[in-house]
Amino acid sequence: MVSQSRPAVSVAPGRVAFFDLQRQQRRIHDDVRARMDAVLNHGQFILGPEVEQLEQKLAAYAGVPHAIGVSSGRDALMIGLMALGIGPGDAVFVPAFTFAATAGAVCSVQATPIFVDVDPDTFNMDPADLERAVAEVIAAGELTPRVVMPVDLYGLPADYEAIGKIALRHEMIVFSDAAQSFGGTAGNRRVGGMAPISATSFYPTKPLGCYGDGGAILTDDDAIADAVRTLRSHGRQGTGDVAVRNGITGRLDTVQAAILLAKMTIFDDELVRRDEIAALYDAALAGVVGLQKRPAGYKSAHALYTIRSDERDRLKAELDANGIGNALFYRLALHQHPAFAEVPKRPLPVSERLADTVLSLPMNPDLTDEEVARVIAVVREFVSA
Ligand SMILES: Cc1ncc(COP(=O)(O)O)c(C=O)c1O
Repeated sequence: MVSQSRPAVSVAPGRVAFFDLQRQQRRIHDDVRARMDAVLNHGQFILGPEVEQLEQKLAAYAGVPHAIGVSSGRDALMIGLMALGIGPGDAVFVPAFTFAATAGAVCSVQATPIFVDVDPDTFNMDPADLERAVAEVIAAGELTPRVVMPVDLYGLPADYEAIGKIALRHEMIVFSDAAQSFGGTAGNRRVGGMAPISATSFYPTKPLGCYGDGGAILTDDDAIADAVRTLRSHGRQGTGDVAVRNGITGRLDTVQAAILLAKMTIFDDELVRRDEIAALYDAALAGVVGLQKRPAGYKSAHALYTIRSDERDRLKAELDANGIGNALFYRLALHQHPAFAEVPKRPLPVSERLADTVLSLPMNPDLTDEEVARVIAVVREFVSA
């Protein structure tokens, strides 16, 4: 499918989109339309049969007994924390280099996020800094360490083995923010089955995305699954009219579930293509710019392909001038957002450095080899100039 030849050095004209959902939509249009029509015809727009079908497929894919469709990735995090009984006085350890929603969900249940620095190679939560952060919280004596929430940044699973050991020692639960990584693997474990509870997002540009907002919680714990099902539907059990706890309007729409069922039929092929594109970028850009290191045995879902450059802002301007889509995920570490100004301060040097140097290149399964070659050529010409 993909030629491994080195890219042409001279840059051909033509724009390369950062994301291009329209190409994918054209590939699956008929299937999506048929499934949406089926929903229109049966009319069960909330918790229709497609939601349960999707939940079964997601659970089987991840190798866990429960997948529960919810309204977004952020709601998945928040509902999961509610199901775990997390609230005021509880500390939830999150990486400082991630999307704002990770910490936002913690604040939404009135718990306190504690920012942990990330590893300069994988960009994921650094277990050594997690140890330090937990020790600091215990020494301060104001909060109870309850949850570690690693993020699988850009689709690469975090180091759940090391993090799990630390969590066990301090009687904390690991709750994976897998918003970007559904489809990723580490050894023989799939995302969704790497922690007792995981949350993913079906935001349209995610590796498995719908055509609106959506998310899911995956767990092997029956009690957590029960609590999540109740919380996502106003705190009611099943279709009953009794609110057994205070829940939210947090369900996945039937239409979005139908769209995701269509997307799942092409998901594995798309992951293969994302892997091919990443391999092309890796081969051409190693030693040219900084790359996210994927440890042996780990497979990223490649939600994003992100490089590092000390001249990031000039490289961005060059890509813009050449019509190459690009984006900064993330320009700020979490503690640099005004929303989290009240979060306890700790040194987070790697996160700050990444925020100054990262840049994401086009990554989607519909990129052609020629487009990938063009992106590579612009980056290489910039670096060699
Ligand atoms: C790491 C991370 N966490 C949480 C979310 C929130 O997901 P959603 O946009 O579906 O609410 C995202 C989505 O962008 C994310 O990247």
